[in-house]
Amino acid sequence: MLVTGVAVGFALEIGFSDLDVKRLGIAATLHDIGKAHIPLLILDKPDRLDPGEEEIMRSHPVIGYELLKDIEDITPEILDGVRHHHEYLDGSGYPDALTAPEISDLVRLLTISDIFAALIESRPYRPAMPRQNAYKILCGMEAKLERPLVKAFRNVALVV
Ligand SMILES: [Fe+2]
Ligand SMILES: [Fe+2]
Repeated sequence: MLVTGVAVGFALEIGFSDLDVKRLGIAATLHDIGKAHIPLLILDKPDRLDPGEEEIMRSHPVIGYELLKDIEDITPEILDGVRHHHEYLDGSGYPDALTAPEISDLVRLLTISDIFAALIESRPYRPAMPRQNAYKILCGMEAKLERPLVKAFRNVALVV
């Protein structure tokens, strides 16, 4: 999966320990596993989701968390990544509306990697975006993402 490669590249760029690189890689691979329980009609819908569909879509981090939480090899760091990869530093994310102090570094890297990977892949409702443009979007999400991290991500985003 693209997001796993991006996230691992980012973790190496930042100088994460081997253990943390591994945790992030697993979290990135599993982060959207809850989407397995979202109807395909919603996942593959070619136009904008209505509010009801949006709410169902937004349940995927908690579904993923519930699916994985009793599995022995799944560590708290991985669960944190699965549950919180749509949280933002300014508290505008979901499902728990966490704010900056509650959002770990692993989650911060995962969120940036996930947004970027989603933008540079084509989706049913839009074509793939050039890396340069996708990186610009990250730079514009100032209150939501950690600025120095987005800056460090430049090497991952544009030099591949
Ligand atoms: Fe997600
Ligand atoms: Fe994702």
